[in-house]
Amino acid sequence: MGLVGASMLLEGCSSGLPLVKASQQNEVLTIPLNKFSGNSNLLIVRSSSLESDILLVKNQEGYKALNLKCTHEGVGLTATDKKIFCSAHGSSFDFDGNVLKEPALKPLKQFRTEVSNGNIIIHLI
Ligand code: FES
Repeated sequence: MGLVGASMLLEGCSSGLPLVKASQQNEVLTIPLNKFSGNSNLLIVRSSSLESDILLVKNQEGYKALNLKCTHEGVGLTATDKKIFCSAHGSSFDFDGNVLKEPALKPLKQFRTEVSNGNIIIHLI
């Protein structure tokens, strides 16, 4: 199936959150569970094949993958350990992708995730 094999680097991000680079294979991104180290439940996932980064959120139900693209006019969003915000017109979102502050009206797009063989699989379609 080729689900595994993404090349990755872990590095800092301007938002202060950890960032992992992943390669897309067969419409999925594969992120090792151990990339969630320390006490952060947030991880920025970047892939050259994607227009926007993804925020991977670890919560009690599992893992949520939020598209960091504003639902107002499509600008890239910034995620911090407090919230997700848009520098274009001031919208903000919570870690479930819900709108906290307009002008954006729609929640963030989410990608389906599953855990398999020690990895978080993000399904892009
Ligand atoms: S594009 Fe994000 S608030 Fe307008």
